Amino acid sequence: MSLTSIHITGAEAGPELVRGTVGQELAFAFSAQVPVVFPENKKVASVVDKEDVEDRTDVPAEDKPLPAAVKAKIMNLVPLRGQRIRVTGWVDRVGSLHPEHPQEQGQGNDAISILLRDGTGYLPAVLGGDLAKATDATNLKDETCVELIGTLRAKGTVVPKDLARDGHELVVDSWRVLGNAPGADKAFANRVNKTSPSTLADQRHLTLRQPTPSALLRLRAHTLAAFRATYAAPAHAVLEVTPPALVSTQVEGPGAELFWLADYYGVRGGACLTLSAQMYLETCLAGLGDVFCVQESFRAERSHTRRHLSEFTHLEAEIAFIDFDGLMTHIETVICETLEKLLADPTSTALLAQLNPGFTPPSRPFKRLPYTDAIAWLNARGITHRPKADDDAAGAGAPYVLGDEIDEAAERALVDDHGAPMFLYRFPASVRPFYMKQVPRAPGEGTVWTESCDLLMPGVGEVVGGSMRIADMGELLAAYEQHGVDPAPYYWYTDQRGYGSCEHGGYGLGVERFMAWLANRYTVRECSLYPRFPGRVTP
Ligand code: 4AD
Repeated sequence: MSLTSIHITGAEAGPELVRGTVGQELAFAFSAQVPVVFPENKKVASVVDKEDVEDRTDVPAEDKPLPAAVKAKIMNLVPLRGQRIRVTGWVDRVGSLHPEHPQEQGQGNDAISILLRDGTGYLPAVLGGDLAKATDATNLKDETCVELIGTLRAKGTVVPKDLARDGHELVVDSWRVLGNAPGADKAFANRVNKTSPSTLADQRHLTLRQPTPSALLRLRAHTLAAFRATYAAPAHAVLEVTPPALVSTQVEGPGAELFWLADYYGVRGGACLTLSAQMYLETCLAGLGDVFCVQESFRAERSHTRRHLSEFTHLEAEIAFIDFDGLMTHIETVICETLEKLLADPTSTALLAQLNPGFTPPSRPFKRLPYTDAIAWLNARGITHRPKADDDAAGAGAPYVLGDEIDEAAERALVDDHGAPMFLYRFPASVRPFYMKQVPRAPGEGTVWTESCDLLMPGVGEVVGGSMRIADMGELLAAYEQHGVDPAPYYWYTDQRGYGSCEHGGYGLGVERFMAWLANRYTVRECSLYPRFPGRVTP
């Protein structure tokens, strides 16, 4: 007789394999063929052959040990079809397996259907027989946290074929509530079915459970992973670093809106939250080679637009031994290779199809339009300045002239007309930070131009801002002066120009703006886990 099964009911146990009736962990250990060693005084009543129990016709089915249940996440269930599994998650919906067929299955006498959600996917499950009659089941509310154990059946065996997502459903044989959820006034649906954006923002901790916000944040995670994979590829070899968020110098120069820390180690106004990691990235080049970071940046500007946040995720990179043309090519290459990775992955492709079904990746090269041509384009179409803010109409209606910043609406008009990502480049030094490399001035040329670029995306406008950096010490010192910047706090930034300076450039990509473009969202607020903007710092 080959020993394959032990029923534990009270006699001495030996160091044998165990299954069935002593709880999930032991059952699981058996299925994985891991020997379970009992303490010497542990009791078992009988040691029986596997076939003795499972194959004997005189043993009632309910007395036969159930197969061990394998703990799994919903996204990994396909290879487990036909097996007994254990899943944990939240009841996304009870009584409906499909939004379009709420009446098909429900809480009734015969069976209760549940759509279970665990963050990795959705699984239809059915509680039948006595399970469906228990009070816990008949009172089950949406968003209850549960553990379900049962057999994963290929689709069509219990519910109509079109209702089973991923081609299978769980026929539950045992389950328990892990965390209750309320009904009536406090029911989940009543908390999240609000129309006011402000009330919904207050409920963000709950609305994150809904299909669209969760899909967006999942796509965002895939996008960041794809960017990281692109940078790590040998063709780029750009290393990830983690610069500080607490800083004492203003990267974008005077005028930038900073979040100052009132009291930092006893020094009033001695530190602020970073606007950009750029300068720290530049210091890495000589020691680490090309680098990038994914870091929160903070802007205290009072912008109430659909593309401004007070805190946003900034993906920034700094590349050595590159020229301006090469920098723009690098930016479009990184973006396109990242999109290729997303579209090669079935999960991110499905998320993208759910959020932005019409998405087609842009083709290369992206159009490159000089700033001067952009101003001419706006003038030719009579596009003028908009009011800066609701309470600041100064300059509104004035035509664009060389040296002006291009407003958000004008930028969008330009790129929406083109219908694909496009670079604007060579902005005047007067509207750009001091660190940007300047183009040598032609004879008679009044404006100082910079080797700078913004990448605009349809529907959003500027998503990336980049430039070549001043590599020459003398030019940098002159730029501090031109922009009225005190060079003293920047000693560490200046120093590098004296220790083997090199031509280099870099850029910052706003992750929420990139997601707004990719997932076709109206505002960046949807693309942040907990968006921060003027007047909103909760939850
Ligand atoms: O153009 P910005 O201000 O450039 C810099 O900060 C450079 N130092 C970056 C660098 O070269 N390493 O910001 C870069 C990008 C913008 O194109 C935009 O996508 C995003 O950061 N961004 C914002 N996103 C959301 N809310 C805001 N308030 C943003 N400000 C900038």
